[in-house]
Amino acid sequence: MKIDLVIKNAADLETECLVIPVVDKGDKDKSVGSLLTQEKTFQDAAGELLSSGELSGKPLELAMLYRPTGVKAKRVLFVGGGKEGKFNPNDLRKLAGAAARNVKSKNIRHLAIALPSGVHFHADNGVRAAVIGVLIADYDPDIYKSDRKDQSLESLTIIAPPGSDEKLLRSALDEARIIGEGQNFARELVNEPGNRLTPTILADRARKMAAENGLECEVLGPDEIKALKMGAFWSVAQGSDEPPALIVLKYSPAGAPANPIVGLVGKAITFDTGGISIKPADGMEKMKYDMAGGAAMLGAMRAIAQLKPKVKVNAVICASENMPSGKAQKPGDVQIAMSGKSIEIINTDAEGRLVLADGLTYARTKLGCTHLVDAATLTGACVVALGMVNAGIFANDDAMYERFQKALHQAGEKMWRLPLDDEYRDLIKSGIADIVNSGGRYGGAVTAAMFLKEFVEDKPWIHLDIAGTAWVEEAKPFIAKGPSGIAVRSLIEFVRSFANQN
Ligand code: BES
Ligand code: MN
Ligand code: ZN
Repeated sequence: MKIDLVIKNAADLETECLVIPVVDKGDKDKSVGSLLTQEKTFQDAAGELLSSGELSGKPLELAMLYRPTGVKAKRVLFVGGGKEGKFNPNDLRKLAGAAARNVKSKNIRHLAIALPSGVHFHADNGVRAAVIGVLIADYDPDIYKSDRKDQSLESLTIIAPPGSDEKLLRSALDEARIIGEGQNFARELVNEPGNRLTPTILADRARKMAAENGLECEVLGPDEIKALKMGAFWSVAQGSDEPPALIVLKYSPAGAPANPIVGLVGKAITFDTGGISIKPADGMEKMKYDMAGGAAMLGAMRAIAQLKPKVKVNAVICASENMPSGKAQKPGDVQIAMSGKSIEIINTDAEGRLVLADGLTYARTKLGCTHLVDAATLTGACVVALGMVNAGIFANDDAMYERFQKALHQAGEKMWRLPLDDEYRDLIKSGIADIVNSGGRYGGAVTAAMFLKEFVEDKPWIHLDIAGTAWVEEAKPFIAKGPSGIAVRSLIEFVRSFANQN
């Protein structure tokens, strides 16, 4: 998609479709059109939409005018933004997305969005929100349909009023494009089925992305994983005919301080059958998205490489299948993790924490990461606890949590903090080994996090359980059904927060 910025009156732009955000001012103010043109016929047409109630400013409400007089655009699409006082960049992101998905379905390929005036946020944040919203909305997952018509948008023009700070807005636009594309890169990976995205193929995709973006990339295979004594990771991989891959990406910009080194560790189970503790058939097809944590790290790294913040970042992506077979691990088996801790396997379906245990140890001991963040579609229990609205977030360090929370706010993503009290440690005690890999029915998201905590030692650490939020179950006006790309934007902002303080 071509994305551009113009600084002029929106009425003077020739375009297939001009989007005008409309907020509800609550006072029956009929001034929608004045955003655009004082032309009488245009005012009358917009006024009729308002008085008929077809346009009230309700969130994501749409109303289209064709060739209104006084406007050079072929169509004007009004999109509601909700109450004026509350209207924020997140609302604008969704609004822009809803506009984009609406025009896409009508085979319109060119879109222009007028930045809303009189809002409570800065214009550069408006540009970021609109561009990211359109990029996210432009993505559709139906790539394997043989009669697929590519409905991708060809161009997006952001229109800022005369007098705007062009340099500032252009840099916001470039940044937003990188962030939106990073998120969509993750979604493309998550969308791939298990047969088309094995650990080996994921590693190839990572290598290619790294080469294109100037990142260092190293992929460790079965022999290296065994040589490193990654007994937890290997225990999951051993049951599959597909070899696992430990994908390591390094971003080390000139001028970055030696400290911190941020470590992004992602779970990438390219298909989770449950292993010997096999899952029921119903809905198992969805377990192709069990690599969404790893994909989020790749999407974030891609954007970080392009945004070039002055901070060192490493990513470790633990890619494996989880399969039943004659070579698969069994409940009751005891595995020794890379850190030396022994693990009694209670349930082979609790495999994510096993691969992450060694991924975290690797990031800490081999890459020298000083701050750790992991992301994983880790537990069904997290979905039960928080549904599909908030991801779960855990932290062993309050300063780290606060930093991540700021990143969440900036990115407009929702996560809810869950506890890590010492009392929960009892639930992962084993009679034969140091810990068990499943804490049982109660507090499943927490006991999974407690398990991971065993492997981060003294490092400040954040764990994101994205099981409920990595997949959009029902299409929304601003995003297709399918992979969401959750966590990519927050991870980018989190990493950038370290650079901004220097
Ligand atoms: N990948 C699943 C978690 C999951 C469940 C992701 C639903 C997305 C939607 C994970 O590997 C798993 O199977 N977890 C088990 C753990 C249990 C056996 C302790 C679970 O949540 O049931
Ligand atoms: Mn599982
Ligand atoms: Zn899993």
